[in-house]
Amino acid sequence: MKTVFGLNAVRKEFPVTTRMLYLDSAHQTPLALSVRDAVLTFYNEALEMAGPKPIWMRRAEETRVALAEFIGASADEILYTKNTSEGLNIAANALPLKAGDNVLMIEGDHPNNAYAWLNLCRKGVEVRFIKLNGEDSVASAATFAPHIDSRTRAISLSHVTFHAGQRHQIADIGTLCKKHGIYLVIDAMQSIGVLPIDVKELGVSLMAAGCHKGLLVSQGMGFLYVSKEVENLQPAFLAMSGMAHPPADYIATPDDMELRPAAGRFEMGNHNLPNLHALSASLALINKVGVRNIEEHVLLLGDRLLTALDALGVKVIGPRDRQHRAHIYVLDLPVNEWVDYLAQNQVRVSAERGGVRISFAIFNNSIEVDRLVELIKLRLAKEIVAGTPEGDSLLTSIQN
Ligand SMILES: Cc1ncc(COP(=O)(O)O)c(C=O)c1O
Repeated sequence: MKTVFGLNAVRKEFPVTTRMLYLDSAHQTPLALSVRDAVLTFYNEALEMAGPKPIWMRRAEETRVALAEFIGASADEILYTKNTSEGLNIAANALPLKAGDNVLMIEGDHPNNAYAWLNLCRKGVEVRFIKLNGEDSVASAATFAPHIDSRTRAISLSHVTFHAGQRHQIADIGTLCKKHGIYLVIDAMQSIGVLPIDVKELGVSLMAAGCHKGLLVSQGMGFLYVSKEVENLQPAFLAMSGMAHPPADYIATPDDMELRPAAGRFEMGNHNLPNLHALSASLALINKVGVRNIEEHVLLLGDRLLTALDALGVKVIGPRDRQHRAHIYVLDLPVNEWVDYLAQNQVRVSAERGGVRISFAIFNNSIEVDRLVELIKLRLAKEIVAGTPEGDSLLTSIQN
């Protein structure tokens, strides 16, 4: 298989690759050495006098610039959060939605997205869930267009789904939203760091993500993109960091309640500094490889897996077209037995709604795909042995 970047050097960054097949980046990614070192640098600095806060704050702003560049935004359109849920809740509560307005979503999308909007039902906002035509189909403008009416204010969906790996057609949906003057809110938790994202090209109004999957940071850090073009957004929560003119004497009064523009008004107090240091290092690593190369890499691993599974007769839930998938492949196999079996063989995967979820990352290689396929083949052969007399010869030929 052709390698699209210095994979061996990347694998050295991830010690986990020497011990096991880590095929679970859709759940979380293990740390890279350079990311761990960045966090250690922070903690070592923190041993003295609670650390050099001005330097940390400067780094936080430099990281904001790097993150903004990574998604084609500007720094003042980026707000740090603790995870995707927080970003989506900030978004849902910031939009000027009134009783009788409706929001369109895809049925079965991640609950952390759905609940952010369902919480608005208390205010009389209606959430309409649209059914897709099976888990191998993806959402496009045509999915939503028939459901838009005069009270539709927003569409919210995942870029890549966690349960079947569908890559929804966000740019197409973005064009539809622009045409109807509707907000487009994206959950990019699964796609960020795996697929190239340009928020302007996609026509996204707000986009939330956490950093513990494709962005290679541990849990507790996320961000929200808020387009400067989107007007009338009001923060549900307010801190001094959201004010245009924070009081120099630290005494809050109602005299001047002017908010910062764009994302700034949603900023809430101190940042997650250890994870911001981690994010700075992980963005450097990802940029060194190139996110387009990461996309191509996970697709190549997916091509290889699909071909091998076809040969074994194992069904994959989710789309097969390259433009409709990314790094997530859910195998239609009985979850309980298979996840345990793979774990016993040092393969980490996830149990997902439809079956066994395999997810690739920057550090996986084709040898690992082949090893996984071999393990699947072996166990399938054992099932045949248990069930049929002719299975014996099949198992022998596989083991040989
Ligand atoms: C699509 C999607 N959204 C959100 C989350 C997680 O939400 P949070 O970052 O708030 O924990 C996940 C998985 O962890 C996910 O797959």
